[in-house]
Amino acid sequence: MKFWRYSLTALASLLAAVSASGPTDGEAAADPNSAVVKLTADDFSSFITENPLVLAEFFAPWCGYCKVLGPEFSKAADQLNVSHPTIKLAQIDCTEEEALCQEHGIKGYPSLKVIHGSTDAIEDYEGQRTAEGIVDFMVQQTLPVVQKPETVEALKEILIASERPVIVEIVPKKVKKSAKKNLETFETVAKSKRKDVSFVSITGDELVSEFEDLISGAELKEKTKLPQYVIVRPNALDDATLLSDEEPLTAESLISFIDTEIIPYFGEINRDTYMLYMNSPLPIGYYFYNTAEEKAKVEETFNKLGKQHRGKINFVGLDAVQFGRHAEILNMNPDVIPLFAIQKVADNLKYGIDQTKFPEGPSIEAIEEFVADYFDDKLVALTKSEDLPTPEEVAATPVIKLVGHNHADIVKDTTKDVFVKYYAPWCGHCKTLAPKWEELAEVYGSNKPDAEVIIAHIDHTANDVATPFKIEGYPTLVLYPANGEIDEATGLRSPIFFEKAREVDDLIEFLNENTGNKVDGDKLRKALEESKKSGSSEKRDDSANAAAEDDDEDSDDEEAHDEL
Ligand SMILES: *[C@@H]1O[C@H](CO)[C@@H](O)[C@H](O)[C@H]1NC(C)=O
Repeated sequence: MKFWRYSLTALASLLAAVSASGPTDGEAAADPNSAVVKLTADDFSSFITENPLVLAEFFAPWCGYCKVLGPEFSKAADQLNVSHPTIKLAQIDCTEEEALCQEHGIKGYPSLKVIHGSTDAIEDYEGQRTAEGIVDFMVQQTLPVVQKPETVEALKEILIASERPVIVEIVPKKVKKSAKKNLETFETVAKSKRKDVSFVSITGDELVSEFEDLISGAELKEKTKLPQYVIVRPNALDDATLLSDEEPLTAESLISFIDTEIIPYFGEINRDTYMLYMNSPLPIGYYFYNTAEEKAKVEETFNKLGKQHRGKINFVGLDAVQFGRHAEILNMNPDVIPLFAIQKVADNLKYGIDQTKFPEGPSIEAIEEFVADYFDDKLVALTKSEDLPTPEEVAATPVIKLVGHNHADIVKDTTKDVFVKYYAPWCGHCKTLAPKWEELAEVYGSNKPDAEVIIAHIDHTANDVATPFKIEGYPTLVLYPANGEIDEATGLRSPIFFEKAREVDDLIEFLNENTGNKVDGDKLRKALEESKKSGSSEKRDDSANAAAEDDDEDSDDEEAHDEL
C-alpha cells in the first residue's frame, strides 16, 4: 500500500500547507464579547469542575489553524449559550499559560479537549472544526450513546434535527437467542462511531411501523427475530438503507456498513474529511470548482451518479481556490477549473476529462459519459507529469522548465522559436550540456516575457509528452521554429534537429540560421557581455573560468554518443 500512503501524504501536506498559509483574516483569540471563556492557571480547575461539559481550546495567537478556528469557535459558543447553556467553550492561550498547557501535554495548536467535569475525564475533540460541527459534536456529548425514543414524535425529531446520518436499530419483540449479542455489538460500536453517526434503537410494533412510514428506500423484514439496522441520511428520509441480514453481527461488519453509507453521494473533500476518503478503499471522483455556483450546477448530477454507483466510487467536490494544486497529483492542469478526474487511490491510477476540450469545465453529459466509460473500463490512465515549476524555480534559471502539463502550451506558441532539450537525469552528456544550455538561455533572455527565442528543457523520463518525432537518445535538441509548419498528428510544429557539436557558439550559429523570428544571437551575446562587464569583476572571473572548462571538454563532446 505504498502508493496509497504516498497520495495520502501528498494530500495531507497539501491541505496542511494551504491551511497554514490560508485565510488569516480571523483572530485566534475569540471575540471578547462572545460566550467563549478565557481560562488561566488560576481558574482552570475550578471552572471545569463547576461545569459538566467544557470544550477547551489550547491555542497560540500566531498559529494559522487557530486563526481559522477562532471565529468559528466564538460562533459556536454563542449558539450553544442560547440553545444549551450548560455547555461551555473555553480558550487557553499557551503563550501566556505555558505551565498549564504543558500539564495537559499540548504539543500542537490548536488542541481541542472535551472535558466532562473533571481532569480525569478529558478526551480529544473529534468533530469538525466549523461552528456547526462544534455545536453538533458537543450536543451529542450530552445525549446517551444510543438514544431510545419511545414515541414517533421523539424519533422524528432526532431524524430531522440530525446533521449527520442516523443508524436505527429495530429490535423485534422477541430476539432470537443467538442474535442477542447483536444488541451489545451495536452499543459497543456506538461508542467509537458516534462522532460520525447518531445511534438510535427502537422497539414495539407501532413505533416500528411508524418509522417505516417515515422513511423509504429500505424495506424492513416482517416477523423476523433478528434486529435490523437502517441508516437514514440527513435531510433525506426518503433515502434509507437496510443492512442485509447479519447473524451474528460483528463490529467489523457494522463499522464497514456505517463507513460506506455515511459517505455522502457527493461530499466535500477538505481538511476535515480527507481521512474519511483516503481510508476508504474506493476510488475518488473529484470535481474541482472555484465558486459555489459551479459546484451547485453539478450537485444533482453527482448525487444521482453517487447513488447509482454507491459502494464503488466516492464523488467529492474540491475547492480549487484553496486546494487547487492537488490537480497536479492527479496529472491534471490546475489552471483549468472546473475539472473532473478519478483517482484509483489503491493503484495510483488517474483518469481525467480532457481539459483542452473543456476549458470552461466539463459539461454534465461529458461527466456522465466519462463515469460510464470508467466503469466500462474504456479509459486510459493519464500520462505522468512533474509539477509545474514554482515561481522560485522559474526565477532561479533562464532555462524554461517544461513538464507534461505545460509542454504543449509552450511548444504550441507559434509566435516564438522554442528550442527544447529532451534529457534524462542519468545521462552524462546532458549534464555536460546543462551549463551551456543555461548560458544560451541567458543570451536569449529566455525567461523574459518578451523573449523571442525560448530555451527550454524537459526531463523526458518524468513527463509523458507528445512529440512529432520519436526520441531515440538523450539529449535530443529540437527547434520548433516560429511560424513553422504544423505537424497534423500532434498539432506541434515540424521540428528542426540540432546535430552539431554542443558548444554555445554552435548552438547560437544554429539558431541564427533557423529561427523563424530571425534573431541575431551574436548581437544578443555581445550585449550581454557588455552589460556583464559593467557589473562586478568577480562575475567576470567566474564566466572566464566556466569558458575554460568548456574548452577542456571539447574533444569529449565531439565524439559524444547519445544515450537512451
Ligand atoms: C449568554 O446567554 C445569556 C442568557 O440568555 C445572556 O444573558 C448572555 O448575554 C449570553 N452571553 C453572550 C456572551 O452572548
